[in-house]
Amino acid sequence: MKILSLCLFVIIQWCAASVLGIYHHDIDWIRQHLASKSPYPTTRVPSVDTITKSYSLEQLQLVIRHGTRYPSDGDTKDIADILALLQTSKNTSALPWLKSYQNIYTPERSGMLSGLGQSEEYLHGRRVARSFPELIDAVMDNGDLALRFSSYTSSSERTAQSAMAFQLGVFQGRGQLSKAKQFVTPILTYARDNDTLIAIDDNCPAWRAQVHDNDATDLQADQYRLLAETSIADRLTMDLGINITTKDVDSIYTGCAFDVTHHDTVDTFCSLLSREDILTLEFREDLSYYYKYSYGNKLNSKVACALVQDLVKEIEAAAEDKDGYDKLSLKFGHTQTVLFLQTFLGLHQDPEPLVANLSKSAIDNRIFRTSKIATFASNVAFQMLRKNKSDKFVRILVSETPVKLTGCSDEVCPYEQFKAILEPLLKCDIQEICNE
Ligand SMILES: *[C@@H]1O[C@H](CO)[C@@H](O)[C@H](O)[C@H]1NC(C)=O
Ligand SMILES: *[C@@H]1O[C@H](CO)[C@@H](O)[C@H](O)[C@H]1NC(C)=O
Ligand SMILES: *[C@@H]1O[C@H](CO)[C@@H](O)[C@H](O)[C@H]1NC(C)=O
Ligand SMILES: *[C@@H]1O[C@H](CO)[C@@H](O)[C@H](O)[C@H]1NC(C)=O
Ligand SMILES: *[C@@H]1O[C@H](CO)[C@@H](O)[C@H](O)[C@H]1NC(C)=O
Repeated sequence: MKILSLCLFVIIQWCAASVLGIYHHDIDWIRQHLASKSPYPTTRVPSVDTITKSYSLEQLQLVIRHGTRYPSDGDTKDIADILALLQTSKNTSALPWLKSYQNIYTPERSGMLSGLGQSEEYLHGRRVARSFPELIDAVMDNGDLALRFSSYTSSSERTAQSAMAFQLGVFQGRGQLSKAKQFVTPILTYARDNDTLIAIDDNCPAWRAQVHDNDATDLQADQYRLLAETSIADRLTMDLGINITTKDVDSIYTGCAFDVTHHDTVDTFCSLLSREDILTLEFREDLSYYYKYSYGNKLNSKVACALVQDLVKEIEAAAEDKDGYDKLSLKFGHTQTVLFLQTFLGLHQDPEPLVANLSKSAIDNRIFRTSKIATFASNVAFQMLRKNKSDKFVRILVSETPVKLTGCSDEVCPYEQFKAILEPLLKCDIQEICNE
């Protein structure tokens, strides 16, 4: 009890105390450690982008992951299985929440955008509208069209819904529909089997063979699971009197993540995990994504070739002020879309590769963190900026935080410098890269 009262009176954020093995966490801390299932940091991003105080924004291109969703098929099954297993425990005092727990993660809801996911995208759209009213003015045509605008999604419900929510946010107040003066704008969806820009992994046979179907891809994450999760599994096995495997520990983390994003609670699955456990599970998931979608495999730094070619072609059109170039261009995709893109650009790369036996301090200080760079609704923005007719710049932001491309003198990167850095990379050919 002493620890608990200390915990209530001391700063809760730093205090995840265990009373009889039940852990209490600060929900806002956990939200930032759920790896690719972390919700978007809506309350932590700037409410406006002030870049237009110093530059004029000629064009904005955004590549956006869908917002928070229901668990995928695999996670839905894992949550149902772990619930059934926990129900066999006789130690009900360790699981005070379980008896009245309602599992909302049903198979028919799997993968669908949640209410939170809608609002993440909508509020991001509102911030764009608030930050760049002149850009939106330039997109509007004749009061009832958005002409210099494009929006593409992968072939999935959650990305199409994300586009809709985002665009409602951007164009709200510009139309005549309802009191909110809503204005609807087009959305185009790429065919599932012909989408080398967004659902890249579904359309790249070489990636499927060399990364997805390659046993070596999971090696480091599997080793780390064995190394770091065995003691967690043993502790839970002891406390709960049922056999808990390291895979079950993963499922508990999954349940914890979705109960945070769907129920705003840390009092269910999360209460079985200590703060250290959560950091461990976060790194294990990072290892998995690092090898599957990022620097862990050389091919991952090439597969966004067609996407970056497309983005840079648009930037060039804006820089050269070509007739009718798109002022606002949106693409709605998935974790792999934002990670392949960042990996192609060399962003958030650790100097040493991430491996299972990394030291604690190297793990704590790693740069590659999906909880920061691949959350739900995470995004990469390309801004084409001008000082005057001749001085042009490109600025890149990841989830609304400016980043510096290696080789650029500044976050606001001179256009010629930006082009020179990317030129060698853009000689790539997606057909060559993806055909085995
Ligand atoms: C029940 O679990 C708690 C941890 O939550 C543990 O402290 C306690 O010893 C367990 N009780 C039994 C009878 O195993
Ligand atoms: C795929 O899309 C490209 C344009 O992006 C088009 O030229 C091609 O015909 C499409 N292929 C199929 C099989 O639909
Ligand atoms: C747990 O596993 C041990 C062997 O590792 C086995 O003897 C025991 O029956 C299992 N208990 C349950 C409840 O499955
Ligand atoms: C990690 O393991 C590799 C071999 O798999 C070894 O070369 C390396 O020195 C180890 N690193 C640490 C920090 O133990
Ligand atoms: C554009 O602005 C820069 C300073 O930012 C100045 O040095 C340059 O002369 C200007 N060019 C023109 C054409 O006005």
